[in-house]
Amino acid sequence: MADYDYDVLVIGAGPGGYVAAIRAAQLGLKTACAESRETLGGTCLNVGCIPSKAMLHASEYFDAAANGAMAKMGIKVTPELDLDTMHGQRRDAVKGLTGGIEFLFKKNKVTWLKGLATFEDAHTVSVGGQKATAKNIVIATGSSVTPLPGVTVDQKVVVDSTGALELPKVPEHMVVIGGGVIGLELGSVWRRLGARVTCVEFLDQILPGMDGEVRKEANKIFKKQGIEFKLGTKVTGVAVNGDQATLTLEPAKGGAAETLEADCVLVSIGRRPNTDGLGLDKIGLQVNQRGQIETDHDFRTKVDGVWAVGDVIPGPMLAHKAEDEGIAVAENIAGLTGIVNHDVIPSVVYTWPEIAGVGLTEEDAKAKYGEVKVGKFPMLANSRAKTNHEPDGFVKIVADARSDRVLGVWAIASVAGTMIAQAAQAMEFGATSEDIAYTCHAHPTHSEAIKEAAMAVTGKPIHI
Ligand code: FAD
Ligand code: NAI
Repeated sequence: MADYDYDVLVIGAGPGGYVAAIRAAQLGLKTACAESRETLGGTCLNVGCIPSKAMLHASEYFDAAANGAMAKMGIKVTPELDLDTMHGQRRDAVKGLTGGIEFLFKKNKVTWLKGLATFEDAHTVSVGGQKATAKNIVIATGSSVTPLPGVTVDQKVVVDSTGALELPKVPEHMVVIGGGVIGLELGSVWRRLGARVTCVEFLDQILPGMDGEVRKEANKIFKKQGIEFKLGTKVTGVAVNGDQATLTLEPAKGGAAETLEADCVLVSIGRRPNTDGLGLDKIGLQVNQRGQIETDHDFRTKVDGVWAVGDVIPGPMLAHKAEDEGIAVAENIAGLTGIVNHDVIPSVVYTWPEIAGVGLTEEDAKAKYGEVKVGKFPMLANSRAKTNHEPDGFVKIVADARSDRVLGVWAIASVAGTMIAQAAQAMEFGATSEDIAYTCHAHPTHSEAIKEAAMAVTGKPIHI
C-alpha cells in the first residue's frame, strides 16, 4: 500500500473544509487543510456570514433609534453614526472567530498548509511550492462573486459584497444589482445608515427560490422601509466617472433604456464555484455546465480518493449546508455513514424582519405532490410580536393533503431565522402539521405562530 503524508487533505478552510478537517482529525485520521487566505474560516467568516451579520446587527440598532421604533417604547435618542467604530466591531468579530478556527486546528492537530493548492495527481497536491500526498483529498474551495459582463468592480464606486461591507462612508445613492440575499441584506445595512437604496432585479420578483407569497410580502415590507425596486429590469452597463456611476437599465423583456445615477453600485447577481487553477485536468475531473463538481450521495467525485463539499458542489450556497457536508464527508472517509438530508436545508435572509424557509415552496409542493393544504398565521396576531411592535410577516405551513406530512415551512418574522430550526427538526422527524399543532409551545413567544399556522392547516387556529 502506498505511503501518504496524510490520511485526509482538505483544500479550502471555509465552513465545508475546516469542519471536514476537524471531524476527520476527531476520527483519528492524520489531517491537513490547505488554505490560501491569511486567516481560516473561508468566505463565511472572513467576508460573508459573519461580517455581514455584524453590520446588520449594528445598523439595526441605529435604525431602531433613528426611525422612532425606540421612541415608541419611551426611549428617546438621537443617534449619531460612528462608522469607524461600527467597522471596528465587525473586524473584531471576524478576528475572534477566524482565530478560533486556528485554535481548533491546533487543538485537533490539523496541519494548516498555507498557500494555494493545485493537484499534481489524484493523491498529490502542491501547496506553495511544497508537495503533499494524501489517501483522500477533499475539495472545499467554495465560491466567489459572479461578475456582470462589462461591469468592472473597483471596490470604490462599483463594489461586490466584500467592498460593500467596508464602505468608508454612507453612500448617498446605492444601486444594488440583484434582489437576492446579498443585495437585500447589504442594501438594508446602508439604507438603515442613511443611504437611498434602489434595487434592480432582472426577474419580476425578488428572492428567487423562496415561496411566492413570501417573495411578494417581503417586497412590500422592504418598499415600506424605503428601498426602491426596479423589477423585471436588467443592467446593461455601468459607466464610472470619478466618484459617480451612470447605470443603463433596460426592461428584461426588451424596451426603452433608461439611466440611473449612483455614487455606489453593488453587484450581487450570484456566486460561482471556485475551480480555476485547481488543476482538475491533471486528475481528469470535469465540472458540470454550472461550473460545479458533481458528487454522489457520499460526496465522492468521479475520481477515486477525491471528494468534494460546500459551495463548489450543487445545492444551495449556504454555510450550514457546507458544514453538514464537511462532517458527512469526513465520516464517510472514516468508513462511517455520513448523510446530509438535502431536502431539509433551512435558508434565512437576515433582514428586518428576517425571512426564512425550509423544504418546498407551495408552488413546488403542488407540482410535486398535487394537492396540498396550507396553514397561515400572521405575526400581527402573535402576542409577543404585537407587544414588541413587530407586526410584519406571517408563518406559512405547507402540508401534503393526504398524509398531512409537512412539506415546507416559511416565515417572515423578527426572529424567523431562529424559529425555522424547529420546523427543520420537525420535518427531519417526518412530522405532520398535527404533530406541530399539538406540541406545547412556550407563551409568549414568536414560535407560537408556528403552532398556530400548523393549527390553521386544518382550519382551527385560536387567535385569528
Ligand atoms: P468558502 O467559505 O468559500 O471557503 C473556501 C475557501 O477555500 C476559501 O477560504 C478560499 O480561500 C479557499 N481556497 C479556494 N481555492 C483554494 C486553493 N486552490 N487552495 C487553497 N485554498 C483555496 N451563508 C449562510 O449560510 N448564512 C449567511 O448568513 C451567509 N451570509 C453570506 C454573506 C455574504 C456577503 C456572502 C458572500 C456569503 C454568505 N453566505 C452565507 C454563504 C457562505 O459564505 C458560503 O455558503 C460558505 O462560506 C461556503 O463554504 P465553503 O466551505 O464551501 O467555501
Ligand atoms: P442570489 O442568487 O441570491 O441573487 C442574485 C439575484 O440577482 C437574483 O435574484 C437574480 O435574478 C438577479 N440577477 C442576476 N443577473 C442580474 C442582472 N443582470 N440584473 C439584475 N438582476 C440580476 O445571489 P447573491 O445575492 O449574490 O448571493 C449569492 C449567494 O450567497 C446566495 O446564493 C446565497 O446562497 C449566499 N448568501 C447567503 C446568505 C444567507 O444565507 N443569509 C447571505 C448572503 C449570501
